[in-house]
Amino acid sequence: MNKGHKKLHIKTFGCQMNVYDSERMVEALAPAGYDVTEAMDDADLVILNTCHIREKAAEKVYSELGRVRRSKEARKVRGSGTMVAVAGCVAQAEGEEMIARAPIVDIVVGPQSLHRIADLVAKAESGERLVETEFPVDEKFAALPQRASGKRPVSAFVTVQEGCDKFCTFCVVPYTRGAEYSRSASEIIAEVERLASTGVREVTLLGQNVNAYHGVGEDGTTWSLARLLRRLAEVPAIARMRFTTSHPRDMDDDLIALFGNEEKLMPYLHLPFQAGSDRILAAMNRKHTADEYERLIERIRAARPDIALSTDIIVGFPGETDADFQDTLVLAKRLGFAQAFSFKYSARPGTPGASLDRQISEMVKKERLSILQTQLEKSRREFDRAMVGRRIPVLFEGKGRKPGQIAGRSPYLQPVYLDGSERLIGHIAEVDILAAGPNSLTGVMNAGLEWHEPIRAAI
Ligand code: 5AD
Ligand code: SF4
Repeated sequence: MNKGHKKLHIKTFGCQMNVYDSERMVEALAPAGYDVTEAMDDADLVILNTCHIREKAAEKVYSELGRVRRSKEARKVRGSGTMVAVAGCVAQAEGEEMIARAPIVDIVVGPQSLHRIADLVAKAESGERLVETEFPVDEKFAALPQRASGKRPVSAFVTVQEGCDKFCTFCVVPYTRGAEYSRSASEIIAEVERLASTGVREVTLLGQNVNAYHGVGEDGTTWSLARLLRRLAEVPAIARMRFTTSHPRDMDDDLIALFGNEEKLMPYLHLPFQAGSDRILAAMNRKHTADEYERLIERIRAARPDIALSTDIIVGFPGETDADFQDTLVLAKRLGFAQAFSFKYSARPGTPGASLDRQISEMVKKERLSILQTQLEKSRREFDRAMVGRRIPVLFEGKGRKPGQIAGRSPYLQPVYLDGSERLIGHIAEVDILAAGPNSLTGVMNAGLEWHEPIRAAI
């Protein structure tokens, strides 16, 4: 196969961190001649970038591998080979087991070793099957290539922190992603400046526990997330900043205050609370009570009254009674989330929660989830409906679904659609919101075309 003519198909499961990791793998493989293809059947190399966080993760990967096997067999008939790599958290958790169980897998690579993907692929070309699941995290970012500037997204993700030391009893992250690690501020600033020079206007800082960020600052001292965000706000082309995902215990005063005094920090915060009952929160090892969470939200709202709050909630943790579940419903209702992600508890092998007594039946979990989701959906729709009649700044990111339409995001992360010129992509303009649909807002550019910023002369 000629260099420059190889095809890579990458399928990403799970969180934004994996989306980011997949992009980095694509970039790492470009020098070896790999171009991305959407069609698995055209691919010389198939990578599954996997997620282990919830239900039947490993089984889903093995069943996806069945599909890959059929594609590989079809290609073989046509005289082409397919290399198969499994990356991410399932790879980390399964390791050698995956090589034994799935004969078509050539490479198993954990999230902290993916900077080695090009080397591993080169080695595997000689027929060797490889497992790489070490945790040399400090090497990873240094070894990853700089982002290619070809794609020009308006909004980009930047991983600033990985791993977690919190050990919530339901969660695999401390085992699959390892201990907390923060990249240095100068590395992050350089990456954001580079992104800005390619047209990026919004950055979302990523980390499994991002607000625990404690990286080496430009001055050699340890910087908090708030300090890092303040510095990134100095990058002129960056108009908007966000970060996800946070732990309530790591919301320090500085970070809370930043929502009120740094206008580039968008009024949106994802802050999981997981359960409304103190007994369940203690069993989950969340290190906060329901009341502490609520007081925290009060302080955040005092700093930024219009903030959109988002959360994660688990139903059916072992031992959860109807009364415990009611506590979750009541707290969620009182706090009025703009967005929420809710899950049935799923026992993850190796986590303390998996060996607890009084596991909850699937039927009860299903019923509780459905009740909770109905309530959360109501609350989300209310938040969206409250936008109607308001004039809000929208950052335009691309074309809309219909001809002549463009799409952007409100400060509160809601998708906004309206008729407008594609020249607006990459810019922020004030939009009058006319309606709230099930998943997005629609509006019109306000009559006077009141720009938040001048359109660059070039366009
Ligand atoms: N079961 C159900 N939900 C889980 N989450 C993490 N682990 C589990 C599990 N074992 C949820 C949490 C977390 C989100 C990313 O996924 O709510 O915040
Ligand atoms: Fe998992 Fe988040 Fe808890 Fe860390 S803080 S163990 S990532 S749920």
